[in-house]
Amino acid sequence: MSQNNTSSLTSTQLEDLCHRALVVAQNAYAPYSGFRVGAALLLEDGNIVTGCNVENASYRLTTCAEQAAIAAAVALHGHSIRIRAVVIANLNKAPSQPCGACRQTIHEFSTPSTEIFFPTADGALTRSTITGLLPSAFLLNNR
Ligand code: THU
Repeated sequence: MSQNNTSSLTSTQLEDLCHRALVVAQNAYAPYSGFRVGAALLLEDGNIVTGCNVENASYRLTTCAEQAAIAAAVALHGHSIRIRAVVIANLNKAPSQPCGACRQTIHEFSTPSTEIFFPTADGALTRSTITGLLPSAFLLNNR
């Protein structure tokens, strides 16, 4: 596991989140793609919430792991949650950056420094921030 030194997480915290993401990925329902994903969120208040992808015969109804984790976090802890870090893992030993829709969903509950860790092609865990992955998120400013 590689970790960028600028992370605010300890290596113990990161290892724990990685472990939780891999554990929850075992619950993924992915009979169509066979790609089993888990996401572990560390919230600013210290709570940890996980989620996995849930596919559907009508493919576009699939829920990504990151979105499942965020929906669970809001349900459990309310809509004022702020995400400190997200760790994404998969059971396919494959790279898996968060998709565009997941980046927008993470952004909704993030701060500019929210950290995102995901596996890359070389098998390493790579760190980025939500600002790095989604520098120009959609914002609704009409309220
Ligand atoms: N998937 C996620 O869970 N997160 C992502 O960010 C990208 C893709 C899932 C959706 C689908 O079940 C499978 O991976 C293949 O696309």
